[in-house]
Amino acid sequence: MDIDKKVWEVLCSEEDISNRLKELGQEISDAYRDKKLYVVSLLRGSFVFTADLVRKFDIPVKIDFMTTSSYGHGTESSGSVKIVNDIKENLEDYHVLVVDDITDSGLTMKYVMDHLKTKNPVSVKCCVLLDKPERRKVEIDPDYVGFTIPDKFVVGYGLNYGDYYRNIPYVFVVTDKDR
Ligand code: IMP
Ligand code: MG
Repeated sequence: MDIDKKVWEVLCSEEDISNRLKELGQEISDAYRDKKLYVVSLLRGSFVFTADLVRKFDIPVKIDFMTTSSYGHGTESSGSVKIVNDIKENLEDYHVLVVDDITDSGLTMKYVMDHLKTKNPVSVKCCVLLDKPERRKVEIDPDYVGFTIPDKFVVGYGLNYGDYYRNIPYVFVVTDKDR
């Protein structure tokens, strides 16, 4: 699929994202006020979302990154999740909030949350920019969701297509011109 020859349909505009992040930032700040918050951001897809989201917090926060295996160059998950790079800090005193770009099958988020629970943090919750509930293969209901979207492959704002387009500042869907 040559993405440049397709129609780019904006799903979440820069303004939509900015407005929603202000709300999420406030909600999360209120929920974790006076608690030790540790954001675990899943690379690479969530780097843009995490950077914008944490700047909406009005509470102190520690931030680190984990790398998990993902879709690679295709548009379908391989079904297996691997931790490529783990959190090294002791999380025992912290409330962990896992941040990812999207929950699709739910395999990644479930695996990462179960893994982080073995490090005995005070709590483990998650926040995703996008949620595709129709695609779920495992039971998981993200605690904080930016936008619930239909079952379509989305690109931009951290999400890649063939490793490109992560830098596009909005979320879009690609469709055929003659549709
Ligand atoms: P999972 O199926 O919930 O495990 O999704 C794992 C990862 O697949 C996400 O963190 C994304 O990086 C990637 N992914 C899922 N759906 C999409 C999509 O529509 N566009 C781009 N990447 C996606
Ligand atoms: Mg990802």
